[in-house]
Amino acid sequence: MSLPVARLMVRELGRRPGIETELIDIARLPLPVNDAGEAIRDAGFSSRMSRADALVIVSPEYNHGYSGLLKHVLDSCLREYVHKGAGVVGVSAGPFGGTRGIQDLLPVLRELGLVTIFWDVNFSTVQNAFDEAGELRDEAFLPRIDKFLRELFWMARTLRYGREHIALE
Ligand SMILES: Cc1cc2nc3c(=O)[nH]c(=O)nc-3n(C[C@H](O)[C@H](O)[C@H](O)COP(=O)(O)O)c2cc1C
Repeated sequence: MSLPVARLMVRELGRRPGIETELIDIARLPLPVNDAGEAIRDAGFSSRMSRADALVIVSPEYNHGYSGLLKHVLDSCLREYVHKGAGVVGVSAGPFGGTRGIQDLLPVLRELGLVTIFWDVNFSTVQNAFDEAGELRDEAFLPRIDKFLRELFWMARTLRYGREHIALE
């Protein structure tokens, strides 16, 4: 059920001029599990992270945390993320919209060098949020997504300016 949420985010990102978005379904990344970290870096994922100014992470809540697969994939890169923006969209079957998973993910994102924004989007009872065709049922999500994306764009632009113009002293 995270996929319709991710597709919705890509659609809303696509409404903004000058923004290029790629949807990466981490379930399709061929990462080995006999090692972890940069040793198993996937060249395609790494180059997409290098190109990105910001990440929108759609994260399902699994047993009050984020998914193990998400951590495994995030761990496979490091320098690619530094001084880039990140916002998290929580997905859950229960009423809390993935908030517990998001809270646990924030210190991980910080350690990776990502700069998180102060808005999230929370899809609670996600099984009811989309119809059979994958279309959003509740339009109330759209202004929340808009607020989240406006903040993320500000952060992404600010950090890009910083990476390009401000040296670490
Ligand atoms: C292993 C597992 C644990 C889950 N734990 C929670 C949970 O703690 N809280 C919750 O609200 N939903 C929980 N769910 C429901 C998922 O958050 C929900 O089904 C969401 O759609 C999962 O995204 P996915 O379909 O992309 O995997 C869990 C689902 C799985 C598979």
